[in-house]
Amino acid sequence: MRTQVGIIGAGPAGLMLSHLLHLQGIDSIILEKRSREEIEGTIRAGLLEQGTVDLMKKTGVGERLMREGHFHEGIELRFNGQSHRVNLHDLTGGKKVTVYAQHEVIKDLVAARLNVGGKIIFNAQEVSLHDIETTEPKIQFHYDKDSELQEISCDYIAGCDGFHGPSRPSIPNSIRKEYQKIYPFGWLGILTEAPPSAPELIYANHERGFTLLSTRSPEVQRLYLQVNPNDDITNWPDDRIWKELHARLEINGEWKLTEGPIIQKNIVPMRSFVCDPMQYGRLFLAGDAAHIVPPTGAKGLNLAIADVQVLARALDTYYATGNEELLKRYSTICLRRVWKAERFSWSMTAMLHRHPDHTPFEQQIQLAELDYVTSSRAAATTLAENYVGLPIEWQAGEKEETIAGFLYNE
Ligand code: APR
Ligand code: PHB
Repeated sequence: MRTQVGIIGAGPAGLMLSHLLHLQGIDSIILEKRSREEIEGTIRAGLLEQGTVDLMKKTGVGERLMREGHFHEGIELRFNGQSHRVNLHDLTGGKKVTVYAQHEVIKDLVAARLNVGGKIIFNAQEVSLHDIETTEPKIQFHYDKDSELQEISCDYIAGCDGFHGPSRPSIPNSIRKEYQKIYPFGWLGILTEAPPSAPELIYANHERGFTLLSTRSPEVQRLYLQVNPNDDITNWPDDRIWKELHARLEINGEWKLTEGPIIQKNIVPMRSFVCDPMQYGRLFLAGDAAHIVPPTGAKGLNLAIADVQVLARALDTYYATGNEELLKRYSTICLRRVWKAERFSWSMTAMLHRHPDHTPFEQQIQLAELDYVTSSRAAATTLAENYVGLPIEWQAGEKEETIAGFLYNE
């Protein structure tokens, strides 16, 4: 088999890359180790930046998102027994965020690819990368564990295979520098069949630990509790979860959290991680394969989408003109934005969680920061512009929200 771009992983990064390349007339094949049902059913986060929404709309995969997504113009920060609204819309010149679950994005992208004959090989086993330092890199795999070895020759390989995939380790240790921070807490996430308790997301800093109230639909809500990362979900019967959510969220006596049956619950640890460079030879990493953020800033999916916009444009430039200059700068362009999102996610995490090693002095500093962010327009603007999403900076002074305008300037 042969293709122009071999893509490993059908997460948001791999699927959106394949979709963008198709619109640019570039051929790709996606190799995904899980089944279609699994990738379309895995519950993840679900907050889209304005730029992600704009890209989906302009590239023809935003129809259901516009119908079923929830558009939020602000968020609420709760601390010290009080609630404060950050008006994202006013502070950013009219931008919003959209709640739409990641697996719904996956369903829309898979459907868009398959509808036009796009090639996604599900259940691909033992995927491995070869000859990435040459001009004809190859991906090998098996259709199933008993079948013979297959090989795809490519011009380029996109490693979109998440944090645990084989792409990142294919960059030699001597070249690859990894930065990591592990946090001393995790998030217990639930889905509950209940009506929304609030019109916007609530991020609550409480002495018992951080809590986030989010939504999925008028019937299903998403909530998170800060817990010990080594805790076991069996220690959290439903009544304990509700007791803790009420205690951390109901701070002013008037507002009440509405309960419902819990239909899904799990605990995830939290880390920050960056791999530098994000490219080696003819291999380009995108999304979680190259970087991880803690979910407090809601950046994971959006970073993955930003990376592949840069890669799609760089590949388009190369195929159209033979000029590899943008491809050579891929890692540099992405990492500038990645590090800013890392900084923001880390700072939101630090500001909102209960830190086991914090002294009373550091707890007061944390509350002062929340007080500052919610009382100074300058500080609130900083939070808002990061939360709705920073532009991609192609080079000094050249900023763009998305490449949709560039690609589809009808
Ligand atoms: N072979 C083939 N596919 C693989 C392999 C492998 N060896 N290893 C992993 N994959 C697949 C996974 O099954 C998954 O479907 O790669 C895909 C990676 O997708 P994601 O983990 O969703 O990563 P990404 O596309 O970068 O999107 C980042 O996903 O994890 C969330 O919070 C994160 O929102 C962020 C987003
Ligand atoms: C979610 O709805 O899953 C969600 C929203 C905002 C976050 C993280 C997760 O910061």
